[in-house]
Amino acid sequence: MNIRQSPRYLRVSLLSACNLQCSYCLPPGKHQRSISAPYDKVCQAIRFLHSCGIKKIRFTGGEPTLYKDLCRLVAFIKAIDRDVHTAVTSNGVLLEAKARALSEAGLDSVNISIDTLNPTKFHDLTGRAHLNQVIAGIDAAMSYIGKVKLNCVLIRGINDYTVDKLILFAHKRGLDIRFIEFMPNHYSIPDDPRYISGKEIRNRLPWDLQPLPDRSNSAARYYVSPSLRIKVGFISPVSQPFCSGCDRIRLNAEGLLYTCLYDCCNINLFDLLGTDSNRILAEFKNLKESKRFGGYQTRTDSASILPSFSAIGG
Ligand code: 5AD
Repeated sequence: MNIRQSPRYLRVSLLSACNLQCSYCLPPGKHQRSISAPYDKVCQAIRFLHSCGIKKIRFTGGEPTLYKDLCRLVAFIKAIDRDVHTAVTSNGVLLEAKARALSEAGLDSVNISIDTLNPTKFHDLTGRAHLNQVIAGIDAAMSYIGKVKLNCVLIRGINDYTVDKLILFAHKRGLDIRFIEFMPNHYSIPDDPRYISGKEIRNRLPWDLQPLPDRSNSAARYYVSPSLRIKVGFISPVSQPFCSGCDRIRLNAEGLLYTCLYDCCNINLFDLLGTDSNRILAEFKNLKESKRFGGYQTRTDSASILPSFSAIGG
């Protein structure tokens, strides 16, 4: 299904605040303006987008577990339609405390970001000494939520030689893990030296990784090996853009709805929700039809204003 006809997957960035400060997302010394989505507006937006065919909703941030009404939101969605898949992408820090309540609210799955298992590197990269909390968060999510995946952003010179350790960590727990190529963003530079392709990493790994058949709307390409009991995914938005199968739309904490991380076109759904329903539908239709499929190069008109992932949610 083409996104111009019917987006199925909604990502909602609930707030800009985060309890880590990963240098590739928000460099030291930089600040993200604090924004948090009003609970009632998010509910109204979700109700509207559900009526337009959304089947899966993922909460991001910032760090979504810092949003005070996260459990309430998950329960709200499940009360509208229990078949809508609810998911969170989290840095894991607060999951030891919150996984149980999220599960009880009806959360279906969680993706947890972990870029290194080395405590010193973790501190250098995130600005916080929270590695043990993240690992405790992963274990709590496994106990209470069940469906858990790990995400790691590949950064040359930081974690490109420790990918095997993360794979073994995931293998020990039986968790699928995905490696994400470093994507150009507001704080990166052209031809950023931190970028490394998924393929270069795969070629360095000691396992015989065989690709699984592609699932058309999945961002990740998955690989398996006879000696691993997990799937290893590669998300390669830079070297292998996956726009043609994309069925996502994104809502940020200010109510702006986008069809792509890299597209400037948007409508303010929070503002529109108070207006005539035909107008909202018409504006939504225009937005979908304006969708471009150029991946990270979509923003050719304004290459210097790339998104800040700390605000739109990666
Ligand atoms: N490139 C790729 N992924 C990124 N994320 C944040 N910044 C970038 C970037 N420049 C990821 C986070 C997390 C998800 C929300 O987005 O690490 O896994």
